[in-house]
Parts: sequence; C-alpha cells; structure tokens
Amino acid sequence: MEPLSAHSTRLARAWLKLGLAALIGSGLLALLLVLSRTPGLHNVFPLRDFFRAALVVHVDLSVLVWFMAFAGVLWSLAGNSRWAALGWVGFWLATVGTALIGVAPFFPNSQPLLNNYIPVLQHPVFFTGLTLAAAGFGLTVLRALLTIPPQIKAIATTTPMSAHAALRWAMLLGAIAAALALGSFGGSWLAVSDLQGIARWERLFWGGGHVLQFQHALLVCVAWFWLADALGAPVAVSGRTLLGLFLFAALPLLAVPVIYNQFEIDSGEHMLSFMRLMIYGHALMAPLVLLAVRSLWQVRQRVSPAKSAFLASMGLFVVGGVLAYLIRGANVVIPAHYHGSIVGVTLAFMGLTYVVLPHLGFGSPDGHLARWQPYVYGGGQLLHVLGLAWSGGYGVQRKVAGAEQLLTSLPQKIGMGLMGLGGLIAIIGGVMFVVVCLRAMLPSQHFKT
Ligand code: HEM
Repeated sequence: MEPLSAHSTRLARAWLKLGLAALIGSGLLALLLVLSRTPGLHNVFPLRDFFRAALVVHVDLSVLVWFMAFAGVLWSLAGNSRWAALGWVGFWLATVGTALIGVAPFFPNSQPLLNNYIPVLQHPVFFTGLTLAAAGFGLTVLRALLTIPPQIKAIATTTPMSAHAALRWAMLLGAIAAALALGSFGGSWLAVSDLQGIARWERLFWGGGHVLQFQHALLVCVAWFWLADALGAPVAVSGRTLLGLFLFAALPLLAVPVIYNQFEIDSGEHMLSFMRLMIYGHALMAPLVLLAVRSLWQVRQRVSPAKSAFLASMGLFVVGGVLAYLIRGANVVIPAHYHGSIVGVTLAFMGLTYVVLPHLGFGSPDGHLARWQPYVYGGGQLLHVLGLAWSGGYGVQRKVAGAEQLLTSLPQKIGMGLMGLGGLIAIIGGVMFVVVCLRAMLPSQHFKT
C-alpha cells in the first residue's frame, strides 16, 4: 500500500472507529433479536416487546452505518488529501446522525415501521439522525468523487501498480453507485408526497436501497483482492482486465435512471424493475467472484487472521447467493439470504480491517483470538442462516417475535433453535472482533509491529 498522508490516515481512523461503534450497537441489538425469537428463551426474555424497535436500529446501524463507514475508510485511503474540511464535516454529520439513530428507540412513542432497506422509527429524533447521517454520507461520497484519482497510465502498465490502480477505480465506481443511490433516495422523496405510513418509507427507500447493494458488491470484491494481495497472492490478471471486470459488474447501474424515467415510483413496475435489477444484475459480478476464489486458492500463507476472514467471507457470501434463489414468499428465508450475503461482506471488511490497522499506525492483530474470530463469527452466522432457511421452509414469518411467531411444529422449533444457537455464537464472534481491534488500537500497541 502506497504511503498515506497524515490527513488520509486520520480520516480513515475516524471512519473505522465510527464503523466499529455501529457494529457494536448492531451486535448488541442482535442479541435482543435472537433471544426474542429463540423457542423457550423468548417466553422468559423480558425485552421481547422491544423487538421491532431493536430490529429497526439493528438494520440501520449495520447495513447503513457500518457499511457506509467502512466505505468511508476505503475512500479516505484511496483518495488524496484535498478537500480535507469536506471530509471532516461529512464524518461529524454522520457521527452525530448515528448517535441520534442509536438513542431514538429510548424516546417514548417512537413507533417502529419495518419497511425494507432503511426501516424507520417514527420520531423526530430518529428522522433528525437519519437526515444528518445522510448529509454526512453525501458529503463523503462527493469528496470521494473529487479526490480518488483515476490512474489511467498506471492501469496500462504490467506492474503490480496496475492492479492497485484498478482497485482504486473500483472504489471510485463504488462511490458512483453510492451517489446514484443518494440521488435515487432524493428522487423518490420528491415523488412520494401523498403516500403515508409504511408504504411511504417502503417506496422512498426501495430504489436507492437496491442501488446501495451494488456499492457493497463492488467494495466486497475490492476487499477480497486487497486481502489476497496482502496474503501474497496478487490478482492473476492485468490491471486493465480487472478494471474491465469491475466495469462489467457495475453495468446494471446504467438502468437506474431509466427505471426512474420509465415508471412512477408508486407503480408495481418500479418495484419489480429494481427486484429484477438485483436478481439478474448481481450475476454480472460472477467473473469477479470466480477470480477472487482463484486468488484465495493461490494464498500460500497457512494461517493468519486475514486468511481466516477471506475464507469465512467467501463461504458465507456464496451460501447467501444460493439462498437468494430459494426465496419463495415472505418468510425467514429472506433474512437467511440477507445474513449470508451481507455478513459475508462484513467478514471481508473485518479481514481488511486487520490488514489496514498497522498502516493506520495501530498494532498488527495476530494470535489465536484474531485467527479464530472470523471462523467463530462466520460459523455462528452459517448456523444462524441455516436455521432461518430451514424455518422459512416451514413457513416461519420474518420480523415477528415471541408467541407471534406461531411456532407450532417440531421442525419449526428445531430450525429457530438452530437460528438462536448460531446467532449467539456469531455474537461471540462479533465481541471477539471488537476485542482484537481495541487491543490493536490501544496506545501501547501503536507502531509496535
Ligand atoms: C452477530 C451477528 C448477527 C445476528 C445474530 C443477527 C440477527 C438478526 C435477527 C435475529 C434478525 C431478525 C430476523 C427477522 O425477525 O426477520 C435480523 C435482521 C436483519 N439483520 Fe441481522 N444479525 C447479525 C448481524 C447482521 C449484520 C452484520 C447485518 C448487515 C451488515 C445484518 C442485517 C440484517 C438485516 C438487513 C435484517 C432485516 C431482515 C429482513 O428484513 O428480513 N445483521 N438479524
């Protein structure tokens, strides 16, 4: 990795801390969700009535804040040090926004609405938080577009620099996808004026929510190739070919303005078009995934935290992809797919955190705890995902807790029991990640490699 400017290091460190804080918040709420849905435990768990509000903030802290904050880390590392003030204003707006989202459930009368992608709490504190966070991420995306240099010459060379230049381009494509998603939210917001309640927020976040998935898909591939490079297995194709594959994976983004132009946002066609864009559009990242699997295969290093994360991430992401094609109706196979795919992304970002920490002036995570953490988190999630998929096959509904789940048959109870066991193991894996990172970030560890 090229030497970083002091400014880029400081900004990347700040985004990493916000990302970790969001992951901790989302993990704590996951504990509440799991205990509220596990047979036998949900009867005695006192906070199950808090399930819906917890689900809202669990999703927003994880999918929105953790993912955008980690993108903030990558864009700070890939960009030059210009527009520094823009970077810091963006960061602090997102941080204050996140804090407000985190405390909103504790305000009386904050009604949870479980719409997809960005569920909301109907309370001014939550909406203020979401607006500030969106403004912060918007400025961060703008700065990424202004500061990530498209290195045309480096791409054409046959040196390792060309692959690095291609990854920088891919991070720029990620920022373009983010800008398109923010534009979609703005466009939908202007068009939903007369809708109320859950329908309003479902339509408002539907388009942009699907577009954000392309940002995450592009950046998980960046994380996989960066991990492979750090593990001594540089990508096996030229920078130009790698860039071509990233541009191919980003092609479906061209359909976004067309969908907004063709269909009213409250029309069924609008929603169906974005579902199709997700189902068929993500298939275009298959060449990148295959290339990443090949890189993983070429890793010679026997054990390391980064390798454990790469393996667990790839395994879970593939399971999530397969489950996507098994979704039939609105049952818990949907969160099974979600957790396969997006926790696969989360594991890749966790592995890359281990790689960049020393470059940010912190210690270098190693030892048993760091090497086993991705397997505990990933293994727990795999059980969690398989439990949800099995239960979904027996008709268990999503986003309900306690007795509302109507778990009547033994297969349903076994499935949700497995969900609970896996979820608890995953939460332990999440705590291990926080401990490993905090240990490496302790002042006594700085620059001690
Ligand atoms: C320790 C790890 C985690 C556990 C145990 C966990 C557990 C859960 C549970 C039990 C639900 C409720 C499912 C339902 O009632 O339908 C849920 C929902 C959800 N979680 Fe997690 N989660 C974890 C990590 C994550 C991460 C890292 C992300 C994203 C980066 C994530 C994103 C989501 C989403 C998007 C939903 C909503 C699913 C839907 O709309 O059906 N989770 N999670």
